[in-house]
Amino acid sequence: MPMKLTLKIWRQAAPDVAGRLVDYTVEDVSPDMSFLEMLDSVNETLISRGQDAIQFDSDCREGICGMCSLVVNGVPHGPDRGTTVCQLHMRRFRDGDTITVEPWRARAFPVVKDLVVDRSAFDRIITAGGYISINCGGAPDGNAIPIPKDVAESAMDSAACIGCGACVAACKNASAHLFVSAKLSHLSLLPQGAPERDRRALAMIAQADAEGFGSCSNEGECEAVCPKEIPISNIARMTREYCAAVVAAGR
Ligand code: SF4
Ligand code: FES
Repeated sequence: MPMKLTLKIWRQAAPDVAGRLVDYTVEDVSPDMSFLEMLDSVNETLISRGQDAIQFDSDCREGICGMCSLVVNGVPHGPDRGTTVCQLHMRRFRDGDTITVEPWRARAFPVVKDLVVDRSAFDRIITAGGYISINCGGAPDGNAIPIPKDVAESAMDSAACIGCGACVAACKNASAHLFVSAKLSHLSLLPQGAPERDRRALAMIAQADAEGFGSCSNEGECEAVCPKEIPISNIARMTREYCAAVVAAGR
């Protein structure tokens, strides 16, 4: 059954101008459409009327790139757990619903236009230390290093972070701790990443602070909205690593 919906969508022409929620009534929405396909169809209508299309980010549309970044009815990525907004389908809503769509809200993620935010702060955190720079051989050498199964699985679970930023958007402190801790964990848990563990922890956390992300007060909102269900136990690991690095550096 096609649905009729009222959308309240954040429109903001540029970073330094005031934005506001604008109402759109949409009809004939198929329950089988993805949320982004529904927005595509709204944009086709706007463009056919000569109006400005709603800007929003997306790329893979299958939950792997981390580009989609919409707050749907107050929840980053919408109502389904472990799901990116590009994987959300309209059958999750009912005929006659009103749906509010907003961008990520955080000082470190300024709005570019409408629903698009600038997440380059995450890139700078990775640039600060989210890599292994020692010579650890090629892929065959890596495969030859015996790593306990539980350690390999923890590292792989942490590597599942797609850098979407929903954890920041959900946190009342706009903390990037879940993102940073996932990136730190997936490197430092493995033997190839261990030698640079201290430098990495100090550099990435310093960069996150410099970007204006807040601290962590253990609210757990980040874990609740994370589409990859990254656990907050990563944040505890990051804190241990950071403290050890501070002590080792004699700070
Ligand atoms: S930890 Fe989760 S919510 Fe945060 S950036 Fe990574 S995938 Fe997105
Ligand atoms: S568009 Fe790639 S994760 Fe949503």
